[in-house]
Amino acid sequence: MFKIGIIGCGNMGEALIKGFIEKGGINSTDIIVSDIDSERVKQIVNRYNVAGTESNRKVVELSQIIILSVKPKDLESTLAPLKDLFNDRKILISVLAGVKIDRIKMITGKKIPVVRVMPNTPALIGEGAVGISFDSLIDEEKKDQIINLFSSMGLIVVVDESLMDAVTGLSGSGPAYVFTFIDALAQGGVKCGLTYKEALDLAVQTVIGSAMLIKETGEHPSVLRDRVTSPGGTTIYGLHALEKGSFRDSVINAVETATKRSKELSK
Ligand SMILES: NC(=O)c1ccc[n+]([C@@H]2O[C@H](COP(=O)([O-])OP(=O)(O)OC[C@H]3O[C@@H](n4cnc5c(N)ncnc54)[C@H](OP(=O)(O)O)[C@@H]3O)[C@@H](O)[C@H]2O)c1
Repeated sequence: MFKIGIIGCGNMGEALIKGFIEKGGINSTDIIVSDIDSERVKQIVNRYNVAGTESNRKVVELSQIIILSVKPKDLESTLAPLKDLFNDRKILISVLAGVKIDRIKMITGKKIPVVRVMPNTPALIGEGAVGISFDSLIDEEKKDQIINLFSSMGLIVVVDESLMDAVTGLSGSGPAYVFTFIDALAQGGVKCGLTYKEALDLAVQTVIGSAMLIKETGEHPSVLRDRVTSPGGTTIYGLHALEKGSFRDSVINAVETATKRSKELSK
């Protein structure tokens, strides 16, 4: 019996395998994977020394925890043929964006324990922000086991499933907002005479360093901001320009609008 079975070895499937082995304390021999593409299975088996098969049924039969990592459009065609294999001793984990736990249970037609996980793209390098929702059939011990497992992908926040759309609007879509901010910072530097390379290096490190400072000091962001904002200095002039451009308003709107869109898509 394998501890973990992964169905779908694309970007996210591979990130999961890598994270579990390199940071999650899972032996490669405890993982079995499948993908519709046999070449992809071979590649993953060679790369990570896990067991591999083209049969999704084998993965469900032989695993305690089954992680579904196909695109949402392939959910029904992947899961429906496997439904007779699930039981209440197996845990099904879905990383599919916008797919509700109820929909998964409906497809399997059974009262099986289901967990919904929403990683973001930095999870691909172990620096993700990961939202997790458990259904009521998962006991505390299993919850801890699953949280430990996914900690290999980054920071975990456990939320009620009703807040998964907010997680999607903030940390799911968030990397795109941050990439845009970093690019804009760099372009500002270019406008003021730096090369794009110099400006991008400075912008990236400024964002990493500022985020780390919040994390390591535990200070409120506004306290840290006020510390670097001296009277009549450069920073207050820059901040005023951001306010004129409705920066905070735009960011709050971005999260709210993306959350609404996530709700629409998951209907
Ligand atoms: N990438 C992210 O950052 C991210 C973040 C949050 C959530 N997610 C979620 O993660 C899931 C996977 O995303 P991804 O980016 O890894 O997609 P992906 O690269 O397309 O990976 C999905 C893999 O599953 C395979 N597949 C399709 N149907 C299958 C079947 N019936 N049985 C076995 N394998 C099958 C696909 O093969 P083919 O390519 O041949 O179809 C592909 O190799 C999505 O639902 C997405 O919402 C991803």
